[in-house]
Amino acid sequence: MSRPKVFVARRIPDEGLNAIRAVCDVDVWPEQLPPPPAVLRRHVADCDGLVSLLTDRVDAELLDAAPKLKVVSNFAVGFNNVDVAACTARGVCVGNTPGALTDATADIAVTLLLAAARRVGESATDAKEGRWLTWEPLGWLGSDLAGRTLGIVGMGRIGFAAAKRLHGGWGMKVLYTARGPKEDADKELGATRVELDELLARSDFVSVHADLNPTTKGLFGAAQFAKMKRTAVFVNTSRGPLVDQAALAAALRDGTIFAAGLDVTDPEPLPTDHELFRLPNCLIVPHIASATIDTRNAMARLCANNLLAGVGGAALPNWVNP
Ligand code: DGY
Repeated sequence: MSRPKVFVARRIPDEGLNAIRAVCDVDVWPEQLPPPPAVLRRHVADCDGLVSLLTDRVDAELLDAAPKLKVVSNFAVGFNNVDVAACTARGVCVGNTPGALTDATADIAVTLLLAAARRVGESATDAKEGRWLTWEPLGWLGSDLAGRTLGIVGMGRIGFAAAKRLHGGWGMKVLYTARGPKEDADKELGATRVELDELLARSDFVSVHADLNPTTKGLFGAAQFAKMKRTAVFVNTSRGPLVDQAALAAALRDGTIFAAGLDVTDPEPLPTDHELFRLPNCLIVPHIASATIDTRNAMARLCANNLLAGVGGAALPNWVNP
């Protein structure tokens, strides 16, 4: 029997790649940048399986160019790059990698929150560029975390892990938004579910963990930043399009909020001349939340398991469209 053919849209860790190679004929895109859409279509044309990344758009056009495709295994927990309805309509299974990156992403949310609150990016740049003139009683003053109120927008796995760290480590009070009550958060963290407007008005720190979908796109605009405290710190480790970046830049520039820490932007990469890069109170890192060796290995294993189940006609362990 012939081996399934698979296109892997970028080098992923060997732990996943070798497992796929053991069963399938594998074509791996060797470049650092994603394959352009027309090239991706060409490569998947005769494939049974595709390993896609969040930078690869999987849409009807691509699916129609790949009539044999059985499975799209996305190397990410987020799958907003995949048109799941179009996959379902064509009988193509979609898998993702939940759980594997919860801790690493929560760690980056906490890192950004602390760094933005304590002006780490700005003061490190000042030190390097000769603006560290002496020890200043009034220099680089930031905000404390202890005992403050944390607002988690989207109390899923990652939101909970971030809240647990900040509640346990700094005694922060936790408010959250979610589609329904979250008993573990209420019991373990003494957290309270509220509407978004109340969360914005009461929180000292707002950390975004909601997924990107038509209802969350542009969730944070001028009106939302205006509802936040002038001392508030805003953190986004979810997806860039949840935020109106012009409104965020204005809020940071005119002191509507104190600071922001972003792991995600729209687009990615954010052009280097974007105003957000020029604002000293905005710290931006290049979508590194899941970038630890163990996490990327675990993602590769989950991704391979989904892919192999899909090409073999079995149920995906992490199935987005069962
Ligand atoms: C994901 O898996 O969705 C993350 O954004 C990757 O870091």
